[in-house]
Formats: sequence, C-alpha cells, structure tokens
Amino acid sequence: MFKSQKIRFTLSVAALFAAALASPAMAQTKGDAAMGAKLYAANCASCHLASGAGGVKFGSGSVSADLRAPGLEKTYRHSNKLLLRAILTAHDEDNERLDQPMPAWKGRITTAQAQDIIAYLHTLHS
Ligand code: HEC
Repeated sequence: MFKSQKIRFTLSVAALFAAALASPAMAQTKGDAAMGAKLYAANCASCHLASGAGGVKFGSGSVSADLRAPGLEKTYRHSNKLLLRAILTAHDEDNERLDQPMPAWKGRITTAQAQDIIAYLHTLHS
C-alpha cells in the first residue's frame, strides 16, 4: 500500500469511527437491519428460509446426505466476529471450512453489507 493510500485509509476509518461515536444507534448495532433484511431475502433465504428457520435439505451432497441449512434465528448469540467470518469466508470458529453449499460471500457482498445482514439476524429471535 502506498503511503498516501494508507493515510487516506486511516482517515476514512477515523471518519467512520467518529460517525459511529456521534450516533448512539450506530454505535450499538453496526449494521442497518432494514438493508440487511433485503440482502438476506435476496441472498440467504433460498437456503436459510425467509424466517431464518433453515432446514432446506441438500440431499446427496458430497459432505453428508443429511446436510441441512442451519437455522439462523439463534445466531444473535454468536459474536459479530464469528458471524462475519461465517458469512464472508464460510469458516467456523475453529477456522474450518463450513460445509458446502454455504458460499463464502467475500467479493459478492461488502463487509458493510454483511454487517447489515448481521443486524437483521439479530432481529430474528424466536
Ligand atoms: C446455497 C445454500 C446457502 C446459501 C445461499 C447461504 N447459506 Fe449459510 N449455510 C448453508 C449451509 C449448508 C450451512 C451449514 C454449513 C455447515 O454446517 O458446515 C450454512 C451455514 C451458515 C452459517 C453458520 C451457522 C452456524 O450456526 O454456525 C451462517 C451464519 C450462515 N450460513 C449465514 C448465511 C448468510 C448470511 C447467507 C446470505 C448472505 C447465507 N448463509 C447463504 C447454506 C447456505
């Protein structure tokens, strides 16, 4: 990274941080749950269902004939860090690859969009 880029990056991070501090709502939940709901419906509901209940079966997949998409209604208990890792890189807390067909979303959605989805997942208590 060139020095000027680095400075610009540092400045934008500082600006984000200042914005988060300025707005109490943003400081609590980094993401925007309303945006996250839309992103979830478009990208995640096909496997994890609109309700987040999961259960879609992947039949004779390479991993296990019985693999189902897990429910996501309880994921609010996981840390944001773990959820970000699961969503962006499809890796779990032990840094093992989650079973296919869970995609790694890095490159398809931004980190900010993943934060929005996480904010939405936090609303799915059931
Ligand atoms: C093509 C199907 C599919 C799509 C689309 C998909 N997932 Fe998954 N997801 C899975 C499967 C299958 C697993 C379980 C993997 C495992 O058990 O190792 C999983 C696991 C997860 C986990 C880990 C759950 C836990 O309790 O450990 C999270 C979080 C998750 N998905 C979020 C998402 C989000 C957010 C999206 C949309 C951006 C998404 N998934 C899209 C199939 C999918």
